[in-house]
Formats: sequence, C-alpha cells, structure tokens
Amino acid sequence: MEIGVRILLAFLVPQVARVGGQEDGGHEGCVPGFQVKHYQVAYSGAFQKGQALIQVEFDDCAGNEDVKFEVSDPNFHVNEDLNLVPQRDVLYSRPILFVHGLSAHADDVAQVDVTGLPVQSPHTLRDILGVGNMVPSRSKRSLLVPPMIITENQRAPFPRVIGKSHVISTEKLGNHIFRLTGPGADQDPRGLFTIDIDTGDVSVSRSLDREAIDSYELEVSTTDFAGNLVEGPALLLITVIDQNDNRPIFKETRYTGEVLEGSPTGTTVMTMTAFDADDPGTDNAALRYNIVRQSPDKPSPTMFYINPERGDIVTVISHTLLDRETLPTTTYELEIVAKDMAGSEVGLTGTATATITITDKNDHAPEFTHTLFEANVYEGSTGVVVNLTVDDRDDPDTGAGRAIYSIINGDPTLSFEIQTNPDNNEGMLSVIKPLDYEAERFHALLIKVENEDPLVPDVGYGPSSTATVRVTVLDINEGPVFFPDPLTVNKMENIPLGSFVASLNATDPDILQAQSIRYAVLRDPAGWLSVSPVTGTVNTSGSLDRESPYVHDNKYTAVFIATDNGSPPATGTGSLVIYLEDYNDNAPYVVPSVARVCEDDMNVAIVGGRDKDLYPNAAPFKIELGKQLGLDKTWKVTRVNSTHSQIMLLHSLKKANYQLPLLITDSGVPPLSNYTEVKVQVCVCKKNKMHCSSAHSHRASLLVLLATLLLALLCL
Ligand SMILES: *[C@@H]1O[C@H](CO)[C@@H](O)[C@H](O)[C@H]1NC(C)=O
Ligand SMILES: *[C@@H]1O[C@H](CO)[C@@H](O)[C@H](O)[C@H]1NC(C)=O
Ligand SMILES: *[C@@H]1O[C@H](CO)[C@@H](O)[C@H](O)[C@H]1NC(C)=O
Ligand SMILES: *[C@@H]1O[C@H](CO)[C@@H](O)[C@H](O)[C@H]1NC(C)=O
Ligand SMILES: *[C@@H]1O[C@H](CO)[C@@H](O)[C@H](O)[C@H]1NC(C)=O
Repeated sequence: MEIGVRILLAFLVPQVARVGGQEDGGHEGCVPGFQVKHYQVAYSGAFQKGQALIQVEFDDCAGNEDVKFEVSDPNFHVNEDLNLVPQRDVLYSRPILFVHGLSAHADDVAQVDVTGLPVQSPHTLRDILGVGNMVPSRSKRSLLVPPMIITENQRAPFPRVIGKSHVISTEKLGNHIFRLTGPGADQDPRGLFTIDIDTGDVSVSRSLDREAIDSYELEVSTTDFAGNLVEGPALLLITVIDQNDNRPIFKETRYTGEVLEGSPTGTTVMTMTAFDADDPGTDNAALRYNIVRQSPDKPSPTMFYINPERGDIVTVISHTLLDRETLPTTTYELEIVAKDMAGSEVGLTGTATATITITDKNDHAPEFTHTLFEANVYEGSTGVVVNLTVDDRDDPDTGAGRAIYSIINGDPTLSFEIQTNPDNNEGMLSVIKPLDYEAERFHALLIKVENEDPLVPDVGYGPSSTATVRVTVLDINEGPVFFPDPLTVNKMENIPLGSFVASLNATDPDILQAQSIRYAVLRDPAGWLSVSPVTGTVNTSGSLDRESPYVHDNKYTAVFIATDNGSPPATGTGSLVIYLEDYNDNAPYVVPSVARVCEDDMNVAIVGGRDKDLYPNAAPFKIELGKQLGLDKTWKVTRVNSTHSQIMLLHSLKKANYQLPLLITDSGVPPLSNYTEVKVQVCVCKKNKMHCSSAHSHRASLLVLLATLLLALLCL
C-alpha cells in the first residue's frame, strides 16, 4: 500500500496530525467524499470542549451543500468549518473514531486515530484494529470500502445490513458487480458475511461472539459481468463491538489469607482478582469488588474493607480489637462479589470466599495455675515427681504458647531437672540425682516459665510466671554399706585355721533409725573364710594356699553380705581381697624328665629346676646325684647357673636308657628337696643324628646300678 504520512496541521494542545492516502497518479476530476480518509489526533490528558482537533478534508464535488457529519463518539462533532470539535470536556476517548460524511452527492467515512491514550490493557481496540498496518484504503479511487462495526449478540432477523461499499465513478455506473472474499465470506467461517452484488450492501448472517473472534478482514472487489476484476480488491475491516455478555470469574472459589493480630488498621491481608472475558477497553470488563458478607459479624460486621478497583482486602478494625485471644474466632469468612460495568447496577457478578486467619503474636505470658506445687519422692529414686500446669492464651501450637521451664533457685546439688511435656505443655519436674532422706528431708524449688518466642515489647513476665515446688523426701530402708570396699589385707599362706583375717565394716545409712547389722559369707570360692555374724570378724576356716587355682596374682577375693533388721530387711555387699605371702611349702623338681647323651662321646645333658614357690623359696637350686653307691663312677653333675646343671657321662655306655636319680634342693628356709628320676637315653650319634633305644630303662647300669637301686628302695 502506498501510504504517505504528512503532518498537515499542528494546533495548540493536543497536537494533531493527519495521515492520508496520497495518490501518485494525478487528479483527474473531483472524487466525492473525504479527500483524506485517515487522521491522527494526539491525546494528552483531556480534550477540551470547543477546541478544534483537526480539520477534515471533505468535498462532495458539488459545493458541499447540506453535508451532514456523524461522529462515532457523540462527544465529538464536526462543525461548519469541518473542524472535529469536542462537544464537552472529554477525559476518555475510544482509540478510533469514525466520521461519516453524507450529502446528496457523497457518502463516505473517515477514520481518526487517537494516539497517546493511557494504556487500558494491551488488548485495546486500536490493537485489534491494527491501525497503522492495515489502513482501510482503496487501491482504485473509485471503490470505497469503509470499515464496519457490528455489535456482538445481535438478534434476528438476519441477514442484517451492516454497511455499504461504494463505487464512485463518473462513468460506467452500474457496470459492475460486488464480490466479497476472505475468512467469513468464501473462507471459514464461510457465509458469515455477504455482499449485495448490485448495491454493495454488506450483511451479517447470524449473531457474532466477540470473545470468539473480535474482528474480520475481508476483501471487496468489483468485476464486470464477465467476471473480470474492475476495482479492488479493497480491505474491509469489520470490528465486533463488545457487549457485556461475560460475568467476572474468580479462578478459585475460596481464597485464604492471614493477618497478624494487633496489626494496624489498613494492613493488607490479601488481594482478590477476578477475570472478565469482555473487552478490557470497555466497562464490560471494568470490575468493582465488594464485601457482601462477613462471618461471623462480631465484633463488627465491617472488620475488613476491599479496595473496589484493586481488590486488596485491608483491615478496618482497630489494632486493639484485632486480638486473637478476645475475638470470637480466629478465622473470618468474607463473601466477595466482583461486578463488571464498573460496578453499576446492571453489571454482572462473580463471587468467591476469602478466609482470613488471625495469626498469633506472643502477647500473653504463661502463668502457673498455682503458686505452690507439692511433691513427695522416695529417697534413692529418680523420675518425674510432679507436673506443673500453666495457662497461656496464645496459640499452643506456636512458640508463643509453648512453655520453657527452668529452676532458678533451691537446687544447689543439681538433683532436679524440669522439661516441657510436648503433649500438654506441662512442666515435668524430675529427680535426676537420687535424694537422701538422712541428708535433707525437704527441698523448696523456685521454678520459672517462659515462652519459646519472646513476648511482644509491651507485655512482660509477671509474678505468676514463677512458682514454688515443695518436695518432701520419704525415707526408705537402705542397705548397709561396706567401707572400705574392697577391703584389702596381706596374709601369709598356710596360717593356722581360725586365724584372724580382717574386720568387716558395714554401716547402715538409715542413721535416724537404730538398726543392727548381721554379716554372712556370700562368695568364698576356696571355702577358706568364716565371718562372725555380729562383729564382722573374718577368720580362716581352711588353709590359705598361695598356689591354689583360686588365687590369681597372689590375690584371693571373697564377697560378704550385710543385712539390716528393717522390714523388709535391706542388704549390702562388700569384697575382701587377701594378698597372700609365700611360704616354702613346695619342693622343687627337675625338668626335663628325659635327657639324651651320645654313647661314645663324653657328652652332656642340661637339666633345670622348677619350684611353685616364689623367691626366695625357689632358685638358686642345688642339683646333685642321688646318694646310691657307684653312681659317681659313671655320672657327674655340675652346676651351670642358679637354675640349671649339666649331667655328664664319665665313660662310654652302650646305647640304652637309664633312670638317673637326682636330688634337687631349693633356697627356702628351711629348704625343701626332692628326689627326681631323670630318664637318660644313651644314643648312637652319627653325623649329627641320634639313634636312641626305645627299650625300657635300665636301672642305672650293670650290677652296680642294680645294687644301688635296691639300696635306694630300702632307704625310701
Ligand atoms: C506427669 O505427666 C506424665 C504425662 O502426662 C504422666 O505420665 C506422669 O505420670 C505424670 N506424673 C505425675 C507425678 O503426675
Ligand atoms: C567404717 O565405715 C565408716 C563409714 O561408713 C567410716 O567412717 C569408719 O572410719 C570405718 N571404720 C573403720 C574402722 O574402717
Ligand atoms: C577369730 O580370731 C580371733 C583372733 O585370733 C579370735 O579372738 C576369735 O575367737 C576367732 N573367731 C573364731 C570364730 O574362730
Ligand atoms: C618330687 O618331684 C616329682 C616330679 O619330679 C613330683 O612328682 C613329686 O611330687 C615331688 N615330691 C615332692 C615331695 O615334692
Ligand atoms: C641357665 O642356663 C640355662 C642353660 O644354658 C639357660 O637356659 C638359662 O636361661 C640360664 N639361667 C640363668 C638365670 O642364667
């Protein structure tokens, strides 16, 4: 399209511009109608009454007599000087005005775009029309197709004429037929619009819905009777004008909001937004909000206010009355109505519910229900002794209602603890370190209660937030206690039966009662001890033996029990540890019991001594040959060191086994000796290998040895 934009006129304010279709192809004669069909007016705040906005260029080619102009907005008119003038102060204008000029010789429409209007919504009629891109125009000067307007939801009868296309020509009048093409005519939605082929009247065939399609772009052209294009095609823009046929709709039926108690008047709680499908540039979608019901309506039926245009719900009630603890409920329901037509009586409505919860602030201190609590507790026991109850009017499920207890006085030994019962907010006072009746029979504890959250600044903890707990300790019969435990003594082994070992010392903690104690043996694995039931004196009833398997590391442990005469009787146990000192009560012996020597060599074997006793009742040992005659002719024993000696063969013996009697003596006072027979194997030694006899031992050797054996047997 060949559209030139020319600034023609510039009046005061508002500024005015004219946009027109300027033909290149010269001017052959006068064409009746608007000489410029498209104008622009800049809007800056308001149009003042009587102020000329633009001058339209209209010529009916017959002197412009009796021309009538009609403006689509009745706030404007075109005066005798062809100026477009507001008839009153105009604050709001539609973005497009149509000016219809009519005389006996002309019938034409011009379009005036109002620019600079405040943005109502991105979806303005201006956008719908796409002004600037699709200027209704004619490609042939003689075909005039004005834009047309039709209201949605029109009723029968149909078809209904909505406008007219014109062919203005000095020649060949009536020599053409009109044709309408495009979506809505010969394309889907097919047949919605029709054109009278003779007159150019455009008709609509049924009711339209702006919310489905808000405008149509069709093309009008003329052909001769043979079907050849004569004029056009020219764009026909049909705009569907909105009717208020959609009610406002809230997305949800129920909205929730919260407001903190004590909030100042005017605090925003929430915002309600409804949607209206009608044209946002019109009142059809201009919504106003209103609260129609508040439930409950106490303490006042107008605790909240909704901004009619923005939908913000704010508090109206004063902050002192907005008190969660004195209001009849903590949740209020508001029925909100949104009404279109800017809230006018004819507007359509939509409804939703707003539920507002008054949330808690810590504006109440917890208070004990009593100033004095009492508890009885048995000495020696632990656990909860009393539950302290408090009142707090704040929300029990929040830190404003939850209690924290502390003991601020009366517990120097840290025997008590207080914890909050999460189920009921009570303070559970418990004994964590057993109490002693004999030490202290009463305890007076000072307890403080606070909230988890700090109190609001103008509220404090009063005297009711502390309480006294009187704890009475009850006596129980305690068992006797041994001291010291364990009791340790040193004793020589083998002391005579009935010897004194130790004196047990058990005392009864129930010092305020006169109780007697009796002792008994509880555990005495070797059965060595007895105890006097009355005095606790422990004597031996067996022989103490340091080498007994019940003794470990010289230590013997026995356990005694002491029982008082309370009812029921109470018992206590204590240990006695006896460190046993060694006595030379074990003779030494020789190891190994088998020794080997080689038959030809002057070979030796090493033997050693062992003794169960300790130094000085063991090594050094003296190891000698037995006293039998002639033994020293064949064998020789010499000392190696304090524990070992060597056995030497003095002349060669045949390969055989011999029993050699040895006498071993320890160093105890008095010393103990033992005859030990060592089996000596005389073996054949070759190349570092020993071949020994597996036969029974000979008694020493030859007759000599036999004789000595007999002698030895006699001696024993
Ligand atoms: C204290 O409260 C707890 C929990 O309710 C209960 O189990 C306990 O028996 C109560 N103790 C006393 C001493 O009342
Ligand atoms: C017995 O035990 C008590 C403590 O229970 C202690 O004071 C006293 O000294 C003990 N007596 C002896 C002889 O150990
Ligand atoms: C325990 O030994 C002491 C001191 O030797 C003696 O007086 C007492 O009679 C003995 N007791 C018994 C039961 O043997
Ligand atoms: C002498 O020693 C032998 C083991 O070599 C042993 O069986 C025996 O009981 C001991 N005799 C004495 C009185 O210790
Ligand atoms: C004594 O001699 C024997 C054999 O040579 C050796 O095994 C042992 O360790 C020695 N003992 C001492 C106390 O020297």
